[in-house]
Amino acid sequence: MDDLLAILRAAGEPTRLRILSILSAGEMTVSEMTQALLQSQPRISRHLKLLAEAGIVRRFPEGSWVFYRLNEDNENFALVAELINLLPENDHTLLRDRERLSRVRAERSLRAQEYFAINASKWDDLGARHIPEDLVEAEMSAILSHAQCDLLVDLGTGTGRMLDLFGGHAAQAIGFDTSSDMLAIARARLDSPAHAHCQVRQGDCAAIPLEDAVAGVVIIHQVLHFLDDPARAVNEAGRVLAPSGRILIADFLPHEVEVLRDEHAHRRLGFSDDMVVDWMTQAGMVDVKPTHLHGKRDDDLVVGLWTGVKAEA
Ligand SMILES: C[S@@+](CC[C@H](N)C(=O)[O-])C[C@H]1O[C@@H](n2cnc3c(N)ncnc32)[C@H](O)[C@@H]1O
Repeated sequence: MDDLLAILRAAGEPTRLRILSILSAGEMTVSEMTQALLQSQPRISRHLKLLAEAGIVRRFPEGSWVFYRLNEDNENFALVAELINLLPENDHTLLRDRERLSRVRAERSLRAQEYFAINASKWDDLGARHIPEDLVEAEMSAILSHAQCDLLVDLGTGTGRMLDLFGGHAAQAIGFDTSSDMLAIARARLDSPAHAHCQVRQGDCAAIPLEDAVAGVVIIHQVLHFLDDPARAVNEAGRVLAPSGRILIADFLPHEVEVLRDEHAHRRLGFSDDMVVDWMTQAGMVDVKPTHLHGKRDDDLVVGLWTGVKAEA
């Protein structure tokens, strides 16, 4: 009973209910919350501290940013979910919070789009801070060596490199990306009879425009660190994967290179195995395995490959 009372006490305050309402849209930084709720950072941080102490939210410090998300692992999370569910949909304050949050996110997304538009034509030549890409690709190739399927899906396809390399594993391969400039490069790359079975389409990996359980392979290569809600993309990948289908995610392990945020539109400074494995498991994958690829220099970023199989229905 004490745990339930702790939740009710912590949630029973207007600003904290507003925080729960916007966090139900996915993970968020303190700065985004201050802009959505129009309250000072110290005030929001104080409320978040109380919510964290009651086990309602979890905090993930990452470099100079801290991300917060609802703590779905709390054994009394059903109470939190019910409170959020009971919030009136037409409440003026909550509606305004969500509108401001959408504006903040749209501005951020626009900045990322501009970054990809500016860099699209030179993308494949941008200097890497990690183990050479051909070694990462060789490892991915080994992981996918036995995967043959009807449909391969590449999320955040960019210039279409993954379709070029791995499209041969499928009768049909589709890459989705939000940037039309990146897609233009991908189309040019794939414009050959050898790639006739490959296509690219504009689409957001937070809402993949595909039916459930249609893909035999899903690849997410160096995309998650750009996303507002990487867990949601992994969940969507799980939704479109057919039973026994394989997922392969490539991204960075946790690092402290803040300049990637400031100058290269990264939102997240890498991901731990625990985090990615948890998202994959929640999305219905089994046999989840991480691999770490270290570069030669001490300060090279470590690349993580996470692979798993969609559980049988
Ligand atoms: C670093 S590039 C990686 C491209 C590609 N996967 C590769 O390996 O060459 C990241 C790509 O993710 C795309 N992207 C960012 N946010 C996205 C989203 N929400 N949905 C789909 N694509 C997204 C960007 O437009 C960009 O093309």
